[in-house]
Amino acid sequence: MAATPGNKLGKIAIVGSGLIGQNWSMIFAGAGYNVTVFDVDPDQLTRAQTSLKNTMEQYERDGYLRGKLTAAQQMSLVSTSSSLSECLKDSFYVQECVPENLELKKKVFAEMDAVASEDMILASSSSCLCASMFTDGLSHKSNMLVAHPINPPYFIPLVELVPAPWTNQDVVTKVRALMEEVGQSPITLRRESLGFALNRIQYAAINESWNMYQSGLLSAEDIDRVCHNGLGLRYAFIGPLETMHLNANGITDYCDRYAEGAYNVQKETFKPVPVMYDVATAQKVQEEFNQTIPLDKLAERRSWRDKRLAELSKLKKTLDGEK
Ligand SMILES: NC(=O)c1ccc[n+]([C@@H]2O[C@H](COP(=O)([O-])OP(=O)(O)OC[C@H]3O[C@@H](n4cnc5c(N)ncnc54)[C@H](O)[C@@H]3O)[C@@H](O)[C@H]2O)c1
Repeated sequence: MAATPGNKLGKIAIVGSGLIGQNWSMIFAGAGYNVTVFDVDPDQLTRAQTSLKNTMEQYERDGYLRGKLTAAQQMSLVSTSSSLSECLKDSFYVQECVPENLELKKKVFAEMDAVASEDMILASSSSCLCASMFTDGLSHKSNMLVAHPINPPYFIPLVELVPAPWTNQDVVTKVRALMEEVGQSPITLRRESLGFALNRIQYAAINESWNMYQSGLLSAEDIDRVCHNGLGLRYAFIGPLETMHLNANGITDYCDRYAEGAYNVQKETFKPVPVMYDVATAQKVQEEFNQTIPLDKLAERRSWRDKRLAELSKLKKTLDGEK
C-alpha cells in the first residue's frame, strides 16, 4: 500500500523554528509524523514555513528527501502555531530548539511544564547545557532530557541522549526508539557530562590541531587534510576503538603492540589540557583561510559541505542496506 500523509499516530511539537527546529521538522515529517512548529517570533514562523517547503522540494529534486512520502505530502504534515499550548496539545513528544541560553531554556521549559500532559516527553536540542540545569523543580522533570543533534541533523544522524539524574529510564528508552524509528542514530550517556560525547572527542581533535599549528609543524590546510583525506574517511564507517580492533589481531593485540608507542607519542608531543583557542592563533589560521575560504564565501562553502554530507549520507544508507 502506498504511504499516505498522516499515517503515523501521534503528533510531535517543535519549539523554536530556526536551523535546528526546521531540520527536526523535516526528519519527523519524513517519517510520517504530524508536526506542529511554534516560535515566539511570528515572522520567523512564516519564514520557516517557506524555507521548509523550498528545502523539501529541493531535496526531492536532488534525491535527498527522506522517507516514502513526497515533499508535498510531508509538507502537508507540518503546521505552525503561534501559541505554545496549542503547539504542545495532543503531542506525545516535544523537541525544544530555542537559542542556547540557560535563562531562556529555564523559561521555556517552565512554560512547557505548565501545559504538558503527564506522559508527554520533552527533549532539548541543547548543545552544551545539561537538562538538570534547566528542569530542576519542574513537575514533569522525570520526562525531560537532552536530545542533542549534530548540524545538519538531516544528513548527520547522531543524536546524543543525555538524561538528568531524575529522568525516567523508560523515557530515555522511548526517545532512543523514536530516534531509531525516524532514521537518526542515537547514543545514550548514562549520566550527565559536560560536552556530552561528541564535543569531548571533537575538542581532543581540535586541541592537537591547535598545538601542531602553534608549533609551526604544518599548515592549517595540511592539518585539516589529515582528517578529511585521512582519519575522517575511516571514521565515517568505523570509530577509533574499532579501528584499534581491526588494525591488529583484536584490540588487546593492538594494545600489546602499540600502546607503549602511543603513550610515548603523547608524552613527547602532547601539551597539557585545557587548551585555550586563542585569538592570535585563530587570526593566523584565518589569514591562511582567507586565500581559499574568505569570509564572504562561507555560505557557498557551507552549501558545498552540505551537498557532500548529503551524498555521503546517501552512500552510507545504500551500503548499510547491503549489509
Ligand atoms: N546550530 C547548530 O549547529 C546546532 C547543532 C546542534 C544543536 N544546536 C542547539 O539547538 C538549539 C537551537 O539552535 P538553532 O541553531 O536552531 O538556533 P536558531 O537561532 O537558528 O533558532 C532559534 C529559534 O528559537 C526561536 N525562539 C527564541 N525564543 C523563543 C521562545 N521563547 N519560544 C520559542 N521560540 C523561541 C527564535 O525565534 C529562533 O527561530 C540550541 O540549543 C543549539 O545549541 C544547534
